Amino acid sequence: MSKEIKNITIFGPGMMGSGIGIQFAQKGCNVILRARAQFEEDYAVENIDRNIKDMIENDCMTVEEGETIKKNIKIIYDINEAVKDADLIFECVIEDMQIKQDLFKELDEICPENVILATNTSVMSITEIASKSVHRHRIVGTHFWNPAFLIPLVEIIRTEDTSDEVVDAVYDFLKDAGKRPVKVNKDVPGFIGNRLQHALLREALYIVENGIADAATVDEAVKYGFGMRTPVLGPMEHADMVGTDLSLSIQTYLLKHLASSTEPSHILKDCVEGGDLGFKSGKGIQEWSPEEVAKSKRRLNDHLLKSLKDRQ
Ligand SMILES: NC(=O)c1ccc[n+]([C@@H]2O[C@H](COP(=O)([O-])OP(=O)(O)OC[C@H]3O[C@@H](n4cnc5c(N)ncnc54)[C@H](O)[C@@H]3O)[C@@H](O)[C@H]2O)c1
Repeated sequence: MSKEIKNITIFGPGMMGSGIGIQFAQKGCNVILRARAQFEEDYAVENIDRNIKDMIENDCMTVEEGETIKKNIKIIYDINEAVKDADLIFECVIEDMQIKQDLFKELDEICPENVILATNTSVMSITEIASKSVHRHRIVGTHFWNPAFLIPLVEIIRTEDTSDEVVDAVYDFLKDAGKRPVKVNKDVPGFIGNRLQHALLREALYIVENGIADAATVDEAVKYGFGMRTPVLGPMEHADMVGTDLSLSIQTYLLKHLASSTEPSHILKDCVEGGDLGFKSGKGIQEWSPEEVAKSKRRLNDHLLKSLKDRQ
């Protein structure tokens, strides 16, 4: 397992798969995107080209670097050919337990035991995804964030079967490739990032549901309040900064008033039942014109590109 990781194969060349491909091709890896059909290949090529163009236009990479990325990425249809030289395989197919389980079983059968198999599931159990495979010590979760080449964090999730060697090899590889990996010691739903993100969303929806503030005001309070600190200050450091005594006294007073439902919000249920799916339908919790949708996406991308440039 201690061999160098240089050859990456990615299953599921969609939004995440092609983004992960850009990241490692940029760092000089040989990247294979395994496509099953022309529409998957077309999507991947278009997505990679568009993102490279965007990064060049924003001075985050040179034209030559963009060409190197394209040169380092190959699209292959045949599964055996796609994994032939792989050191590390990232699975990025749709979020469906059975499809992921079956793919891992197949990969476990055809790949030599020293090939690491990683799933990019957003929230599902890595243990369950690995359950149909035999060599489970080499199966691990690697949860990237979208866009994978702009957001540094990758959560590495181990199961009870994953070997220390595999966790360490993936950690070192991701770190060397410019990511910010963190180790998650238990295979719990949502890992770290999505647990925190959805704890915040539950409270945000509760605030709107109970008429405490409207949706736009909630977002404003986050963006211009504690959200301004979060790039440099996490909640644990913040608790120490204000003092554990103050943090305890606030928890003692406040926790009983916070949302604690284990059911999804009525706001979301009503939206989905009414066909109000957010940006894609022009209305969700709030209304969105096509111009506002484009502006919001552009604002996020510009912010992420700027922070990439600041890190370079
Ligand atoms: N979108 C995000 O923000 C995000 C973030 C982190 C993790 N993830 C996870 O990454 C994975 C991929 O998500 P995405 O957003 O890139 O989705 P996507 O729809 O863009 O890509 C999924 C890919 O899987 C392919 N696919 C569909 N059915 C398949 C099948 N039966 N067998 C093999 N491949 C199949 C699709 O053609 C596509 O290429 C999911 O597990 C998702 O939960 C998504």
